[in-house]
Amino acid sequence: SALPLIAIDGPSGVGKSTTARRVASRLGWQYLDTGAMYRAAALAIHRAGLALEAREDLERVLAGLALTQEGTRIFLAGEDVSEAIRSQEVTRRVTPVSADARVREVLVDQQRRIGATGHWVVDGRDIGTVVFPQACCKVFLTASPEARARRRFLELQAKGQGAVFEEVLADQRRRDEADSTRAVAPLRPAEDAVELDSSDLTLDQVVDWIVARHQAHP
Ligand code: C5P
Repeated sequence: SALPLIAIDGPSGVGKSTTARRVASRLGWQYLDTGAMYRAAALAIHRAGLALEAREDLERVLAGLALTQEGTRIFLAGEDVSEAIRSQEVTRRVTPVSADARVREVLVDQQRRIGATGHWVVDGRDIGTVVFPQACCKVFLTASPEARARRRFLELQAKGQGAVFEEVLADQRRRDEADSTRAVAPLRPAEDAVELDSSDLTLDQVVDWIVARHQAHP
């Protein structure tokens, strides 16, 4: 049966987390950022000096992975890692980490326990397909590669970080390719997901659309 959960999946740079946060606040629901969980796992594995091939050590690190989210902040064993997980280095390392079946098993299990009570907006790549197939509302949010790279580029510029548009676009293509072709939980829309192309929409329009859709099909 359908759970009061809104799953928002889609590729990198499509604005899922901002959208999901705003939808949650409009509905008075909570927001879970699963990308942040994969990023924090990548950071923990890196800090432990582990390669994904180090089977037993990896399992030990994963078993002890203490992730929590408070508002917009992400904590790893009590330490606020919200900024650290957004670094270029973690962004690069998270792709192979998130393709690892053992990592996914541990994080999906945590995500299910968090969302089990319902009234969560959850964003990621596999929320509608794998984590919460019983979510009442599934949105697959897309935008053209150029539109996504342009937003990301402007974001980096606004932060005062030098960026070259072509490099942002190329990096994004690599991530899209890796996320869509991996063997475990590849990025794809659930059969019952509604697709929304946000290339020519404002953030407000996307949020309004999802809230309206949810209210029409609660
Ligand atoms: O959404 P964000 O870019 O923060 O996610 C970081 C990485 O984590 C993505 O590139 C993707 O590989 C992975 N991810 C995933 N499954 C999710 C959420 C994120 O594989 N549910």
